[in-house]
Amino acid sequence: MSSNKKKSPSLTEEGFEAEMGKKTQLSPRKWNLRNQFNYFVAMVMAFVTIAAITLTAENARFWLEESSAVAEYNASIEFYWSPLLVESNSDDPVHHRIPDRIVRAQSIEKHARYWMGADILVFNSYLWWRRDKMKVLFGSFEDKDGIYKEIEIHRSYELALKTWSDWLEFNVDPLKTQLFFMSMSPTHFWGEEWGINSGLNCYNETEPITKENYSGRGSDHKMMQVVESTIEGLSKRGVNVQILNITQLSEYRKDGHPSVYRKQWEPLTKEQLANPSRYADCIHWCLPGVPDVWNELLSAYILSK
Ligand SMILES: *[C@@H]1O[C@H](CO)[C@@H](O)[C@H](O)[C@H]1NC(C)=O
Ligand SMILES: *[C@@H]1O[C@H](CO)[C@@H](O)[C@H](O)[C@H]1NC(C)=O
Ligand SMILES: *[C@@H]1O[C@H](CO)[C@@H](O)[C@H](O)[C@H]1NC(C)=O
Ligand SMILES: *[C@@H]1O[C@H](CO)[C@@H](O)[C@H](O)[C@H]1NC(C)=O
Repeated sequence: MSSNKKKSPSLTEEGFEAEMGKKTQLSPRKWNLRNQFNYFVAMVMAFVTIAAITLTAENARFWLEESSAVAEYNASIEFYWSPLLVESNSDDPVHHRIPDRIVRAQSIEKHARYWMGADILVFNSYLWWRRDKMKVLFGSFEDKDGIYKEIEIHRSYELALKTWSDWLEFNVDPLKTQLFFMSMSPTHFWGEEWGINSGLNCYNETEPITKENYSGRGSDHKMMQVVESTIEGLSKRGVNVQILNITQLSEYRKDGHPSVYRKQWEPLTKEQLANPSRYADCIHWCLPGVPDVWNELLSAYILSK
């Protein structure tokens, strides 16, 4: 790709949404694209023009082309919402705040059919699994005789990843498709972990953590071992997935979260604003910021092939 084609769009999440919103006539509130994907598209837009944008319930699709009349890059970058990888009751990209979370750990086709034929697939699934147990459905959501089982989280995660890896084995041509799995994204909710008052969190933080190999208790390393062993097993079956391990570099960045400055789904009340250390978002990341680095790593892997 050649440079100087097009001015880079505003890189804050809001700015980016506003720009896209204008072209698509969609309310920015409908957007579920987050962090890494937003910035990845923005990064590509610095070099090529987005020819068309399609937004459907599950999908956001960006067709790319060169700004000249001849379409040189007939490609798309897509975001697909399936927070637990496998089918779940949280699959609606807009209405997914469901406290009683249920997965069909053995069913992935509903999502995976959209992944067929891609040249590059980038997966990740972690935060939505952060609980002690997951309710797993054996049967379908429509089936009245479906069996529900509460399964310990590492075990249910393993079941889901098994379904995912089986799908890859039988549906993806590893010679044609590059596969990536992003490791877990850490959170910064408990100040005492980096030596400040235990009631405080990422709010007001302006410097990274400097302690070497720092890791907060929000990071479940056992879950990442499940990822590693699944991917190792898949590699023995001839399908290689490259793990992009962004966990440690992100662990240090207690200063990288939007805290109270994010766009809220519901505006914070006066009481909430008066209590920032309680209502701060210490999960997502500011743009520009940490996810840029993830994307730099991702593009380095893609381009080095
Ligand atoms: C671009 O790709 C789409 C989907 O693969 C295809 O239908 C279309 O013909 C292609 N257009 C050009 C100009 O190659
Ligand atoms: C990534 O790095 C973390 C921290 O260094 C480690 O615990 C984990 O096992 C690694 N692998 C994955 C898949 O996260
Ligand atoms: C945030 O930082 C400011 C300036 O250092 C300080 O006055 C304020 O008390 C801090 N608030 C919290 C909740 O730590
Ligand atoms: C940090 O982790 C690396 C890799 O596991 C290790 O070589 C190094 O000794 C660790 N440093 C400290 C201070 O624990």
